Amino acid sequence: MISFAGKSVLVTGASSGIGEAIARRFAGLGANLLLTARRNLSPADIAARYPAAGGAVHYLSADVTHKEAADRLVAHAVELFGGLDVLVNNAGILFRGTAMECTDAEWTATLETNVTSVFRLSRAALRVMTAKKSGAIVNIASDWGLVGARGAAAYGASKGAVVQLTRSMALDHAAEGIRINAVCPGDTDTRMLDGAMSGLPRAELLRTLGEAIPLGRVGRPAEVADAVCFLASDQSSFITGVMLAVDGGNSAG
Ligand code: NAI
Repeated sequence: MISFAGKSVLVTGASSGIGEAIARRFAGLGANLLLTARRNLSPADIAARYPAAGGAVHYLSADVTHKEAADRLVAHAVELFGGLDVLVNNAGILFRGTAMECTDAEWTATLETNVTSVFRLSRAALRVMTAKKSGAIVNIASDWGLVGARGAAAYGASKGAVVQLTRSMALDHAAEGIRINAVCPGDTDTRMLDGAMSGLPRAELLRTLGEAIPLGRVGRPAEVADAVCFLASDQSSFITGVMLAVDGGNSAG
């Protein structure tokens, strides 16, 4: 049985979609949570979102592309909970378009949000975790980090970078007792799918995308959250450097 009672967990991009589902799972498993996203959420909003939380749930708004955000977030978790056991790098953005269509601004924003923030937050967390010689980092990459991303060149490049950053950090910090893995979701029912096929009503969009997936449907945020909690937990104590595809079989072919 997985429990995070007494463990401190920092989740980025926790205001919606997959990040919100991850936060909900950790809350239900007793974690002390520091959640962050760009949006301002009041303590009342947080209490309403996580009524069944077993531990404390705190929220600090931050833009992870700001240089000082990573150190500030990790320091705040340490101040609140006395340490940091788990970091989940979930915040991400997607601009659709081929390399020819991608602007410099879109390229830079994608790399800053999806890769540089993962590097900076991981570095800040590792400073705390290596001192204690324990901890787990779970990065949210994508099946488009494992196979080519048609019509999303910058996003595919960014998620491929997250995959290799995850593997490199896993090798570098295994001897210090820190496990670093990634979850690679396929199409998952969040607002990130909104621009996938312009003009289609939501139900039709989900059905059309689902038809291309071996298991015949898009994923649910909670299914990604289950994989994240497994990789963050002691149930995966001998697993590091793994890319766990949660994509209905999409990247198997
Ligand atoms: P979403 O758009 O609902 O959530 C993205 C989250 O990231 C939001 O909470 C947003 O506030 C946060 N965020 C974005 N830029 C930020 C910034 N500069 N600073 C702080 N927070 C920022 O989308 P979704 O689907 O929940 O995405 C979560 C992760 O899952 C992303 O890394 C995404 O690339 C990944 N993913 C999603 C897939 C999908 O089909 N929905 C498929 C594969 C990966």
